Amino acid sequence: MSALFLKRFLQRPLQVASIIPSSRALVRKVSEKMDFSKPRVIAEFGPGEGCHTREIARHLTPESRLLLFELDPEFAQHLANQFRHDPRVTVLNIDAAHLTEALAARDLPHCDYVVSGIPFSILDPEKKRELLRRTYEALAPAPHAAFIIYQVTNELRERGHCDHFARAESEYCLQNLPPMFVTKFWRTANGHQSPVNGRRNGANGASRNGHRSNGHALNGAGHR
Ligand SMILES: C[S@@+](CC[C@H](N)C(=O)[O-])C[C@H]1O[C@@H](n2cnc3c(N)ncnc32)[C@H](O)[C@@H]1O
Repeated sequence: MSALFLKRFLQRPLQVASIIPSSRALVRKVSEKMDFSKPRVIAEFGPGEGCHTREIARHLTPESRLLLFELDPEFAQHLANQFRHDPRVTVLNIDAAHLTEALAARDLPHCDYVVSGIPFSILDPEKKRELLRRTYEALAPAPHAAFIIYQVTNELRERGHCDHFARAESEYCLQNLPPMFVTKFWRTANGHQSPVNGRRNGANGASRNGHRSNGHALNGAGHR
Protein backbone atom coordinates (compact mmCIF):
# COMPACT_ATOMS: atom_id res chain seq x y z
CA MET A 1 0.00 0.00 0.00
CA SER A 2 2.84 2.40 0.82
CA ALA A 3 4.49 1.64 -2.53
CA LEU A 4 1.35 2.91 -4.26
CA PHE A 5 1.40 6.01 -2.04
CA LEU A 6 5.01 6.83 -2.86
CA LYS A 7 4.38 6.23 -6.56
CA ARG A 8 1.38 8.59 -6.62
CA PHE A 9 3.32 11.20 -4.62
CA LEU A 10 6.14 11.09 -7.18
CA GLN A 11 3.61 11.54 -10.00
CA ARG A 12 1.53 14.30 -8.33
CA PRO A 13 3.51 15.72 -5.40
CA LEU A 14 1.37 18.81 -4.81
CA GLN A 15 -1.92 16.94 -4.94
CA VAL A 16 -0.90 13.92 -2.84
CA ALA A 17 1.32 16.04 -0.57
CA SER A 18 2.61 13.15 1.56
CA ILE A 19 4.89 10.19 0.92
CA ILE A 20 3.21 7.83 3.37
CA PRO A 21 -0.38 7.26 4.52
CA SER A 22 -1.68 8.47 7.90
CA SER A 23 -0.48 6.50 10.91
CA ARG A 24 -2.70 4.15 12.87
CA ALA A 25 -2.74 6.69 15.75
CA LEU A 26 -3.95 9.50 13.49
CA VAL A 27 -6.59 7.27 11.90
CA ARG A 28 -7.88 6.39 15.37
CA LYS A 29 -7.91 10.03 16.52
CA VAL A 30 -9.96 11.06 13.49
CA SER A 31 -12.51 8.24 13.77
CA GLU A 32 -12.98 8.88 17.49
CA LYS A 33 -14.43 12.26 16.55
CA MET A 34 -17.48 10.64 14.95
CA ASP A 35 -20.54 9.06 16.52
CA PHE A 36 -21.28 5.85 14.63
CA SER A 37 -24.19 4.74 16.81
CA LYS A 38 -26.75 5.72 14.13
CA PRO A 39 -26.92 5.45 10.34
CA ARG A 40 -24.69 8.17 8.92
CA VAL A 41 -23.89 9.85 5.63
CA ILE A 42 -20.17 10.61 5.50
CA ALA A 43 -18.09 12.24 2.77
CA GLU A 44 -14.35 11.68 2.75
CA PHE A 45 -12.13 14.08 0.78
CA GLY A 46 -8.82 12.64 -0.42
CA PRO A 47 -8.95 9.09 0.97
CA GLY A 48 -5.72 8.12 -0.84
CA GLU A 49 -5.20 4.38 -0.44
CA GLY A 50 -8.00 4.18 2.15
CA CYS A 51 -6.51 4.04 5.65
CA HIS A 52 -9.21 6.30 7.16
CA THR A 53 -11.87 4.77 4.90
CA ARG A 54 -11.26 1.27 6.25
CA GLU A 55 -11.56 2.49 9.83
CA ILE A 56 -14.76 4.45 9.08
CA ALA A 57 -16.27 1.47 7.21
CA ARG A 58 -15.46 -0.79 10.18
CA HIS A 59 -17.71 1.37 12.41
CA LEU A 60 -20.54 2.29 10.02
CA THR A 61 -24.00 0.79 10.45
CA PRO A 62 -25.30 -1.23 7.46
CA GLU A 63 -27.69 1.59 6.42
CA SER A 64 -24.96 4.25 6.35
CA ARG A 65 -23.40 5.79 3.23
CA LEU A 66 -19.78 6.75 2.66
CA LEU A 67 -18.91 8.85 -0.40
CA LEU A 68 -15.23 8.99 -1.32
CA PHE A 69 -13.89 11.93 -3.37
CA GLU A 70 -10.48 11.03 -4.72
CA LEU A 71 -8.92 13.06 -7.52
CA ASP A 72 -6.14 10.60 -8.31
CA PRO A 73 -7.32 7.90 -10.76
CA GLU A 74 -4.99 5.17 -9.47
CA PHE A 75 -6.00 5.71 -5.85
CA ALA A 76 -9.66 5.80 -6.94
CA GLN A 77 -9.31 2.49 -8.78
CA HIS A 78 -7.53 0.97 -5.81
CA LEU A 79 -10.38 2.09 -3.53
CA ALA A 80 -13.01 0.79 -5.96
CA ASN A 81 -11.35 -2.65 -5.86
CA GLN A 82 -11.07 -2.59 -2.08
CA PHE A 83 -14.71 -1.69 -1.48
CA ARG A 84 -16.34 -3.45 -4.44
CA HIS A 85 -18.36 -5.69 -2.11
CA ASP A 86 -19.45 -2.92 0.26
CA PRO A 87 -22.71 -1.29 -0.91
CA ARG A 88 -22.33 1.52 1.65
CA VAL A 89 -19.21 2.86 -0.05
CA THR A 90 -19.24 4.90 -3.30
CA VAL A 91 -15.92 5.78 -4.91
CA LEU A 92 -15.89 8.96 -6.98
CA ASN A 93 -12.86 9.91 -9.04
CA ILE A 94 -13.76 13.60 -8.86
CA ASP A 95 -12.74 16.77 -7.09
CA ALA A 96 -14.18 17.26 -3.60
CA ALA A 97 -15.57 20.54 -4.98
CA HIS A 98 -18.40 18.45 -6.48
CA LEU A 99 -19.76 17.48 -3.06
CA THR A 100 -23.09 19.29 -3.46
CA GLU A 101 -23.89 17.74 -6.85
CA ALA A 102 -22.74 14.28 -5.74
CA LEU A 103 -25.11 14.35 -2.74
CA ALA A 104 -28.01 15.69 -4.82
CA ALA A 105 -27.48 13.03 -7.50
CA ARG A 106 -27.98 10.39 -4.80
CA ASP A 107 -30.95 12.08 -3.08
CA LEU A 108 -28.87 12.60 0.03
CA PRO A 109 -29.95 15.90 1.61
CA HIS A 110 -27.01 16.23 4.00
CA CYS A 111 -23.84 14.71 5.39
CA ASP A 112 -23.38 13.97 9.07
CA TYR A 113 -19.61 14.26 8.75
CA VAL A 114 -17.11 15.42 6.17
CA VAL A 115 -13.60 14.08 6.78
CA SER A 116 -10.76 15.67 4.84
CA GLY A 117 -7.17 14.72 4.12
CA ILE A 118 -6.68 17.02 1.13
CA PRO A 119 -3.88 19.59 1.25
CA PHE A 120 -6.07 22.66 1.83
CA SER A 121 -3.08 24.89 2.51
CA ILE A 122 -1.97 24.79 -1.14
CA LEU A 123 -5.42 25.35 -2.64
CA ASP A 124 -6.03 28.55 -4.51
CA PRO A 125 -7.79 30.96 -2.06
CA GLU A 126 -11.00 31.19 -4.10
CA LYS A 127 -11.24 27.41 -4.48
CA LYS A 128 -10.57 26.96 -0.78
CA ARG A 129 -13.30 29.45 0.18
CA GLU A 130 -15.83 27.82 -2.14
CA LEU A 131 -15.04 24.28 -0.97
CA LEU A 132 -15.36 25.30 2.69
CA ARG A 133 -18.67 27.03 1.98
CA ARG A 134 -20.00 23.94 0.19
CA THR A 135 -18.78 21.69 2.99
CA TYR A 136 -20.58 23.80 5.60
CA GLU A 137 -23.79 23.83 3.57
CA ALA A 138 -23.66 20.08 2.97
CA LEU A 139 -23.60 19.32 6.70
CA ALA A 140 -26.87 18.57 8.48
CA PRO A 141 -28.02 21.42 10.76
CA ALA A 142 -27.71 19.03 13.71
CA PRO A 143 -25.61 19.11 16.89
CA HIS A 144 -23.36 16.19 15.92
CA ALA A 145 -22.67 17.27 12.31
CA ALA A 146 -19.06 18.30 11.72
CA PHE A 147 -16.18 18.80 9.34
CA ILE A 148 -13.06 16.97 10.52
CA ILE A 149 -9.70 17.81 9.03
CA TYR A 150 -6.13 16.58 9.60
CA GLN A 151 -3.36 18.86 8.38
CA VAL A 152 0.25 19.76 9.07
CA THR A 153 -0.80 23.32 9.86
CA ASN A 154 -3.98 24.49 11.59
CA GLU A 155 -4.41 27.31 9.08
CA LEU A 156 -8.10 26.70 8.38
CA ARG A 157 -8.78 27.58 11.98
CA GLU A 158 -6.00 30.01 12.76
CA ARG A 159 -6.46 32.14 9.65
CA GLY A 160 -10.23 32.31 10.03
CA HIS A 161 -11.04 30.30 6.89
CA CYS A 162 -13.68 28.36 8.83
CA ASP A 163 -15.22 31.21 10.80
CA HIS A 164 -18.62 30.38 9.30
CA PHE A 165 -18.66 27.17 11.40
CA ALA A 166 -20.14 27.53 14.88
CA ARG A 167 -17.28 26.14 16.95
CA ALA A 168 -14.07 24.15 16.76
CA GLU A 169 -11.72 21.95 18.74
CA SER A 170 -8.18 21.01 17.77
CA GLU A 171 -5.61 18.55 18.97
CA TYR A 172 -2.11 17.78 17.84
CA CYS A 173 -1.16 14.23 16.84
CA LEU A 174 2.55 13.69 17.34
CA GLN A 175 2.34 10.02 16.41
CA ASN A 176 2.26 10.68 12.68
CA LEU A 177 4.92 11.56 10.13
CA PRO A 178 4.74 14.51 9.95
CA PRO A 179 2.75 15.39 13.11
CA MET A 180 -0.68 16.76 12.30
CA PHE A 181 -3.40 18.97 13.74
CA VAL A 182 -6.80 17.30 13.88
CA THR A 183 -9.54 19.90 14.00
CA LYS A 184 -13.26 19.35 14.29
CA PHE A 185 -15.53 22.17 13.11
CA TRP A 186 -19.15 21.86 14.19
CA ARG A 187 -21.91 23.25 12.02
CA THR A 188 -24.06 24.28 14.99
CA ALA A 189 -23.09 25.73 18.36
CA ASN A 190 -25.32 23.38 20.37
CA GLY A 191 -25.08 25.54 23.47
CA HIS A 192 -21.25 25.56 23.50
CA GLN A 193 -19.13 28.67 23.38
CA SER A 194 -15.93 27.47 21.71
CA PRO A 195 -14.89 30.10 19.17
CA VAL A 196 -13.74 28.72 15.85
CA ASN A 197 -10.83 31.06 15.59
CA GLY A 198 -8.20 29.33 17.68
CA ARG A 199 -5.21 31.63 17.89
CA ARG A 200 -5.33 30.95 21.59
CA ASN A 201 -4.01 27.61 22.79
CA GLY A 202 -5.65 25.60 25.51
CA ALA A 203 -8.99 23.90 25.77
CA ASN A 204 -10.10 24.78 22.24
CA GLY A 205 -6.88 25.39 20.39
CA ALA A 206 -3.94 23.02 20.16
CA SER A 207 -0.27 23.77 20.16
CA ARG A 208 2.58 21.87 18.60
CA ASN A 209 3.69 20.88 22.01
CA GLY A 210 0.80 19.03 23.33
CA HIS A 211 -12.76 14.30 -13.95
CA ARG A 212 -16.19 13.54 -13.96
CA SER A 213 -18.63 16.06 -12.80
CA ASN A 214 -21.10 14.82 -10.25
CA GLY A 215 -19.61 11.44 -10.23
CA HIS A 216 -20.19 8.04 -11.63
CA ALA A 217 -19.27 5.59 -8.94
CA LEU A 218 -16.21 3.53 -9.78
CA ASN A 219 -17.22 0.54 -7.71
CA GLY A 220 -19.59 -2.13 -8.87
CA ALA A 221 -23.27 -2.76 -9.29
CA GLY A 222 -25.53 -1.51 -6.53
CA HIS A 223 -23.39 1.58 -5.93
CA ARG A 224 -24.86 4.83 -7.02
C1 LIG B 1 -2.10 13.72 1.99
S1 LIG B 1 -2.98 12.60 0.95
C2 LIG B 1 -4.00 11.83 2.21
C3 LIG B 1 -4.34 10.40 1.90
C4 LIG B 1 -5.05 9.64 3.02
N1 LIG B 1 -6.27 10.29 3.41
C5 LIG B 1 -4.17 9.46 4.24
O1 LIG B 1 -4.49 10.02 5.29
O2 LIG B 1 -3.17 8.74 4.15
C6 LIG B 1 -4.09 13.68 0.08
C7 LIG B 1 -5.07 12.98 -0.87
O3 LIG B 1 -6.02 13.94 -1.34
C8 LIG B 1 -6.25 13.76 -2.73
N2 LIG B 1 -6.74 15.07 -3.22
C9 LIG B 1 -6.04 16.24 -3.30
N3 LIG B 1 -6.84 17.23 -3.71
C10 LIG B 1 -8.08 16.70 -3.87
C11 LIG B 1 -9.36 17.23 -4.25
N4 LIG B 1 -9.49 18.52 -4.56
N5 LIG B 1 -10.43 16.40 -4.32
C12 LIG B 1 -10.28 15.07 -4.01
N6 LIG B 1 -9.11 14.50 -3.65
C13 LIG B 1 -8.03 15.31 -3.57
C14 LIG B 1 -4.88 13.33 -3.25
O4 LIG B 1 -4.97 12.69 -4.50
C15 LIG B 1 -4.43 12.39 -2.12
O5 LIG B 1 -4.93 11.10 -2.31
